[in-house]
Amino acid sequence: MKTLRLDLPAHQYDIHIGPGLLSQPELLTPHLSPEILVVTNETVGPIYLQNLLELLRQQPVVQRVKHVSLPDGEQHKHMGTLDEIFTRLLELGYSRRCTLLALGGGVIGDMTGFAAAAYQRGVNYIQIPTTLLSQVDSSVGGKTGVNHRLGKNMIGAFKQPELVLIDTLTLQTLPDREYAAGLAEVLKYGLIADAEFFVWLEQNWRKLLEREPGAVAEAIYRSCALKAEVVADDETEQGRRAILNLGHTFGHAIETWTGYGAWLHGEAVATGLLMAADLSSRMGHLESSVIDRVHTLLEQAKLPVRSPDGMSRDDYLQLMARDKKVESGVLRLVLLKSLGHAIVTSDFRVEDLYLTIDHFQS
Ligand code: NAD
Ligand code: GLY
Repeated sequence: MKTLRLDLPAHQYDIHIGPGLLSQPELLTPHLSPEILVVTNETVGPIYLQNLLELLRQQPVVQRVKHVSLPDGEQHKHMGTLDEIFTRLLELGYSRRCTLLALGGGVIGDMTGFAAAAYQRGVNYIQIPTTLLSQVDSSVGGKTGVNHRLGKNMIGAFKQPELVLIDTLTLQTLPDREYAAGLAEVLKYGLIADAEFFVWLEQNWRKLLEREPGAVAEAIYRSCALKAEVVADDETEQGRRAILNLGHTFGHAIETWTGYGAWLHGEAVATGLLMAADLSSRMGHLESSVIDRVHTLLEQAKLPVRSPDGMSRDDYLQLMARDKKVESGVLRLVLLKSLGHAIVTSDFRVEDLYLTIDHFQS
């Protein structure tokens, strides 16, 4: 097991990474309270819930262990589904001392975190991410929330967990398409902050595609370390944290346009990464060879490298105008100055943005 610590001014927590951690209750024990609600979904629950419930019931501090199973899918990441968590908590009569455990991918993690931020004005929660994407990104850093039909992740709160427990064995049951989607976010870290990690990814891509455990654990560790460093620097995204959204302005537009769930979040980010690299190159910042390198890795992972069929320039522009990085009506994008160096800027030519969008049309 490897452990990282996320050090924030008002809160610190561990990120444990390793195989079989879900069978090590002592990692959870210090963070438990008398009332526990495990939040999971109809796909992950049948695989991992029973063992977890049994371990929790054996903990002396725990008096009540209950769970709620939500419908599976990005299309259910909205206020209505969130309400199912609140209803369960209220029906159980859980107090402010309860602890929520998020057992699942990023959708479950984001919704559980938001529920924890809001229930009785804030209770503790623990992230137990079970997809590659949630292990390298969404479980760390405290961004929580739900989608609105008019925009992705538009309703939410910053709420840091008490612990992130990453059991890499859970990836064994993850479908290939979901696994590949997580690799897009891993690639993001190399692009924005660590050229040496990007080269390591190129060298180890075959092992990662084959899910070689050592390579996967190393990729998760290095991704979480980069994320923890950026979040520690700028917890509530006043500036630098926005670089973690490389490709996401394009990607969120794709997710919203296609209807949540048709494209996986990581798939939309994959195309978005390429579009951001393309625009960065058109602006004269980035060598075009980097675009080719990203393209090769995405194709090898069978990730999309073109826009969805029929998504027009206007569709992009309308949806991108609702991005959370828009300030006073001005669109800001995360772009690459060079491999491993991202910037957040509104200083791009709109003609170049049009060329990039048009270039990726199917
Ligand atoms: P997801 O939560 O929908 O999980 C993907 C699929 O895999 C689901 O069907 C799920 O039930 C299934 N699954 C999960 N773990 C499994 C396992 N071990 N075995 C078998 N099946 C399993 O999607 P995701 O890619 O994990 O997360 C995407 C979400 O995360 C998006 O909503 C995105 O906005 C959000 N996100 C948030 C942040 C953040 O900082 N909070 C960062 C990145 C992404
Ligand atoms: N996934 C972007 C962030 O956590 O800021």
